[in-house]
Formats: sequence, structure tokens, C-alpha cells
Amino acid sequence: ALCHLNGELLPLREAKISVLDRGFIFGDGLYEVIPVYGRRCFRFAEHMARLERGLAKLRIPNPHSRDGWLALARELVATQPADDQLVYIEITRGVAPRDHVMPEGLTPTVFVMTNPMKPPSAEQRHHGVACVTARDFRWERGDIKSVSLLGNVLARQISADQGAVETVLFRDGWLTEASSSNVWVVHEGALLGTPKSGHVLEGIRYDLLAELCAEVGIAYNLRPIAESDVRAADELILTSATKEVLPITRLDGEPVGHGALRGKPGPVYARLYEAYQ
Ligand code: PDD
Repeated sequence: ALCHLNGELLPLREAKISVLDRGFIFGDGLYEVIPVYGRRCFRFAEHMARLERGLAKLRIPNPHSRDGWLALARELVATQPADDQLVYIEITRGVAPRDHVMPEGLTPTVFVMTNPMKPPSAEQRHHGVACVTARDFRWERGDIKSVSLLGNVLARQISADQGAVETVLFRDGWLTEASSSNVWVVHEGALLGTPKSGHVLEGIRYDLLAELCAEVGIAYNLRPIAESDVRAADELILTSATKEVLPITRLDGEPVGHGALRGKPGPVYARLYEAYQ
């Protein structure tokens, strides 16, 4: 596969960066994962807006205009056989002698690759997936889509070790998100999400779900969600660029939901999934 590194289109296995890259040394960089459907970047402007906000927070100059990024992504997408892909963009502060202080005047490192999209399987969508919970031990700048993902990696492994698909995180008894997805609670027919803060990544699906809910007539509400509300939820839903909209049907081994739908994907999920497609 081909990738893009610092202005050059080259085979992925030939792409090399310096060991002094601050992305390698400090995790000092940002990334985006952009779904491509039918060879078109989905919600591209929204991904660019989040990238621009992140770069400003990190004081890294944006190496490209939106049109420049789009041209890069399109160039790579065209080299792949699959119509549906996932474009990965990474920008680090650049290469410099190791020093925690941000050096002035660095040229950011820019890396772009694309892979075939692997959406959840039909089996996962029809039966839902199992998740486990853990304490959210990550930092308080979770709004930044940072490549410093050790906290997320450690969190994800907790569920991987138990054969589960995601780790749902609670901070001081309140829902934040999962290791690499946002988490939604259905309560009395309404979709509830965690308010945007430094404890959650503002997933591109936040605003997208708000639009879909408006379209299909589901109430959408962001408010603090207690752990007990998650455990008593009618439905639990994961969203991300890769998971799209995915029902959680077991949490810590317990079936999610009530009555006949206990342990089964619910109607709010079904409507949102259909609207999403
Ligand atoms: N993860 N929260 C976290 C911590 C994430 O890493 C992600 C995305 C999300 C969902 O954001 P979005 O809807 O914009 O994909 C929430 C990506 C897909 C990843 O790290 O691969």
C-alpha cells in the first residue's frame, strides 16, 4: 500500500521517520480517522474542524489547507481497490533534540495512510456486542485527539483480555466514553450522551447523531450520566468512525435492557443504524 509522508507518496514499508520525531519521543501529535464511503470522505469538514481545533490547542501550525488535506486523502484513496476505506492522518510537532519545551519553528511531520474499511460484522449488529467497564484513569485533556494513547490502550486491553469489544469508562461514578468510542444511553426513548468536556473526545458522531435523532424523531440530550443509569439503561450504543452505530447487549456479563429486549439490540439503535446507513 502507498502512504503519504512529508510531501512524498511512497510504499508504506518504505516510510521512515526520525527517532527524534516528537511523535515518537513524546506522543506529541494529533490524528484523525476519516471514513470513506464510495471513495468519498464522510463528514470531511467536521474532521478538519476538529483537527484545526486540536492543532490550535497544541500550537502546531496546520501544514495544509482543507483543500490540501482533501487532495492528499483523495490521491491515496484512488490508489486502493476498496470503495470504502479509513483514512488515517497523523501530524506531529516535528523532529528536534529531546526537550519537553515546545521548540519554535519546527516543520510538522505529516503522515497519511488508508486502509480498507472494516465495519462491524452482521453478527455483531444483529446480536450486539459485549463490553466491560473500568475506572477512567486517563488524563483530563481527552478532548484532544492526541496520539498519546497509552491510557486508551491500557483501557482497551481490559476488555480485550475478557474477549469483549470495548471498555466503558467511569470517572468518579460518571460515564465518560469507551477506550476508542463514544457511549450512548437510551432512557425512556431518548438518546443520552455525556456532555462535551476534557473527559471525552468530541466524536464526529456527536453532531451526526443529533442530526439523525432530529430526522427520525428521537429526543437527543447531553447530560451527566451516572454509572447506575448506564447499568439500568434500556439500550446502550457505541459510536465511532469504525464502529458506526453498534449496540452493546452485555455489560460486565449482564444483559442490557429490560423485558423482551433484554440482551438484544433495541429499537432506538435500529432506527439510528438505519438512518446512519
Ligand atoms: N477513535 N472517543 C475516543 C477515545 C476515540 O478514540 C474515538 C475514535 C471516539 C469516537 O470518535 P469519532 O466518532 O470521531 O470516530 C471517541 C478512532 C476511530 C480511533 O482511535 O481509531
